[in-house]
Amino acid sequence: SFVVPSPLWLFGYGSLCWKADVPYEEQFVGFIQGYERKFFQASMDHRGTPASPGRVVTLVKHAHPASVPLSEAEGLVHGVAYRIPDERVEEVLDALDYREKGGYSRLLLDVTEWCADGKEGGRRVTALAYCGNETNPAYDAFDDESDEGLQQAAHRIFSSTGPSGPNREYLYRLGDFLEAIKVHDRHVAELVRRVRLLEGKNDEPCRGA
Ligand code: BEZ
Repeated sequence: SFVVPSPLWLFGYGSLCWKADVPYEEQFVGFIQGYERKFFQASMDHRGTPASPGRVVTLVKHAHPASVPLSEAEGLVHGVAYRIPDERVEEVLDALDYREKGGYSRLLLDVTEWCADGKEGGRRVTALAYCGNETNPAYDAFDDESDEGLQQAAHRIFSSTGPSGPNREYLYRLGDFLEAIKVHDRHVAELVRRVRLLEGKNDEPCRGA
C-alpha cells in the first residue's frame, strides 16, 4: 500500500502547471526523468464528455535505446512541485483521488528544480504524481510520429469541451507554461500548432460574393 511521504510534495505536469488549485506552502518548477508527457488520456469528465472525449496528459515511460547517448532534454518532463501543508494532506489526497477517478494511479518520483537558463537548481524532492498507465480504461494512445495520428488528436482537442472548459484551452496553457520556462516539447508544440490552425480556419469570416 501507499505510504504518504512527510512532508508531502505533489508534482503537477498537467493543469497544476498553470493552476495551483491545491493549498501549498512552497512551490518550484522542476522536472522528472525517464518519462514523456503525452496527450494519451481520454477525458470525459473534465475536458470532454462521454460523447466527445477530450485528451489530457499522462506520463509514459521514456523508451530509450541503451546504445544511444541520452541528449540533455530527452526523457525529461517539466512541471511544478508543491509542498502541501501537513494538516491538509488528507484533504488534498482525497480531492485528487476523486478528481482523478478516471484511471490515474499514484507514483512517487524524484523532482529536480529547473532554472530557465538551462542549469539545474538546488532542490531535489520526492514527489507524488498521478499517472494514467496503459492499463487504465481511459488510456488512449495515438501515433504521434504520424501526420494522421497527430491530426486526429488535434481535431479531438479542438472540438471537445467539458465541465472544466475547452480542451484546447488546456493544451494552450500547457504550451504557454513550457514557453515561459523555455522548454521545447515536440509533442505539445505540434498539437498546439495544429489546433491553432484548425481554430484559424473556423474563425475565418466567409469571403467572396
Ligand atoms: C496535474 O498536473 O494537474 C495532474 C496530472 C495528472 C493527474 C492529476 C493532476
